[in-house]
Amino acid sequence: MSVSTMDIHVQKVEKSRINQLDPNNIQFGKLYADHMLIANYEDGEWKQPEIVPFGNLSLSPATTFMHYGQAIFEGVKAYKDADGNAVIFRPHDNWKRMNRSAHRMGMPDVPEELFVEGMRQLVKLDKNWIPTGEGTSLYIRPFMIATDEFIGVKPAEKFSFIIITSPAGPYYARPVNIFVQDQYVRAFPGGIGFTKAAGNYGASMYPTMEIRKMGYDQILWTDGLEHKYVQEIGTMNVFFVIGDKVITPNLGETILEGVTRDSVITLLREKGVTVEERPLSIDEIVDAYKKGELKEAFGTGTAASISHIAELTYHDLHIKLPEEKNWTISDWVKQEMNDIRYGRKADTHGWIVKL
Ligand code: COI
Repeated sequence: MSVSTMDIHVQKVEKSRINQLDPNNIQFGKLYADHMLIANYEDGEWKQPEIVPFGNLSLSPATTFMHYGQAIFEGVKAYKDADGNAVIFRPHDNWKRMNRSAHRMGMPDVPEELFVEGMRQLVKLDKNWIPTGEGTSLYIRPFMIATDEFIGVKPAEKFSFIIITSPAGPYYARPVNIFVQDQYVRAFPGGIGFTKAAGNYGASMYPTMEIRKMGYDQILWTDGLEHKYVQEIGTMNVFFVIGDKVITPNLGETILEGVTRDSVITLLREKGVTVEERPLSIDEIVDAYKKGELKEAFGTGTAASISHIAELTYHDLHIKLPEEKNWTISDWVKQEMNDIRYGRKADTHGWIVKL
């Protein structure tokens, strides 16, 4: 059977749980909307997707992804404008990235119609779950898992593609305190750093636990060969404003091609700001700090949006960023992006998909 999402079978909940949503207290990833989308892949093809009530999955304990980590995911957001019209931000870009991850992880491509149209229909059904406050959204989590019931090690032949959604407020409640990591490694050339594979996050848990005990929020990873060049923060790409230039590590095998990263670069360049995508060493950041040229530092990601960095610790050096009231670049681009997402400014880039 070929996938035709136009006639997705929909099994609606008997009673919505929407009264569990407190718009004044939305915590990231705690509450899930009423429905989810599931499509299974078997015998070399995707079967007809279904939208069903959000609920537990029933899986054999021998399901292969639980053992060998053939699992990938994406993060997308839906927003509502002042008139209640809902949109999804750049889902086609997440679809393309999901398939880059799928390819590297030996998983099947997800058809565009299944990913984008399936998501659109799911979000439309649960549009009451999209919060309306500034900085809030419906976080959309598409993911794919290998579902062979087999504990021998081999690339799987069966997969499930699932989309769940969750109302979201700010991911970080305050500017983050960063530890520059030069012992553990997140990614290395030839590895899977550029993918959104579950294992990239699994491998970061222990180093993250260690730095949390020391009072830091997140790790800034350095490259796996020399521990010299900054790469990304656990949940975000990273940007530094040095003098009047914005610098972010260039993409490659070890850096996730962030959709928010790309949006920020595009908007800043259109505004006439110089954005350099290039290797950036921790020594260059330290040097800029000592000369008083380090003006702003921020992370970007779908979940985190644009998050200020308050402080970076590298060995014994505490790099305290200037007072936030003097930050211009990150706040301008954050406002600009929010204006586009919430429909206050025209979308001139084709980033918005209406429901
Ligand atoms: C996202 O920004 O969407 C992410 O996937 C980061 C994190 C929540 C894992």
